Amino acid sequence: MSKVYVFDHPLIQHKVALMRQTNTSVKDFRELAREIALLMGFEATRHLPLEEVEIETPICKTKVNMLKGEDIAIIPILRAGLGFVDGMLELVPNAKVGHVGLYRDPDTHEPVEYYCKLPKDIEKRQIFVVDPMLATGGSAVAAIDFIKQRGGTNITFMCLIAAPEGIEALQSAHPDVDIYIAAKDECLNENAYIVPGLGDAGDRLYGTK
Ligand code: PRP
Ligand code: URA
Repeated sequence: MSKVYVFDHPLIQHKVALMRQTNTSVKDFRELAREIALLMGFEATRHLPLEEVEIETPICKTKVNMLKGEDIAIIPILRAGLGFVDGMLELVPNAKVGHVGLYRDPDTHEPVEYYCKLPKDIEKRQIFVVDPMLATGGSAVAAIDFIKQRGGTNITFMCLIAAPEGIEALQSAHPDVDIYIAAKDECLNENAYIVPGLGDAGDRLYGTK
């Protein structure tokens, strides 16, 4: 079974609290998403592979460990997942970025795919799928299905807020995928929105409501 990491770091809790507030501006919401991605990414990348390379310091030649940056892929689930990309790229600037486009049907709440473009060598890469919200889990499960169908194997999922229902659905569909969460909330409401949550993450990131 996959591992679930819930962050208790005060900086992350504070920033998530600001994002939840209705009166947080689009500009601040976007900036907070970038900052939280960076803070969470620091821990979520703990197991990244290193390679030994020889360098020269002003004193002598030596062997040091460096990231195999070209082996990483960040895959946001559109739209709201885009809010996490810049923070992650600040940590791993050489990572490739793939995109999976999904939206939830407003009536059935089922995910509908409209776009998928991944790095060609996805099967070799350590993949970070990012999306601020894990509600029913339908979108994350479907996105990871698409990535696996195209050869992805080594996958981590990162989100801002998760409902227990979404965590359970993702763990049961993809028991090999570890999950990093900034905050675990109480439940879903009748519209499958997370309670207390932060509302519609895509609308809040892009000011579309
Ligand atoms: C939101 C969110 C997730 C999904 C979570 O996207 O960004 O992708 O809902 O819900 P689920 O766990 O029940 O599938 P949405 O469908 O609203 O699309 P958007 O990002 O384009 O706004
Ligand atoms: N998608 C969102 O953006 N927010 C929720 O609470 C649930 C799904």
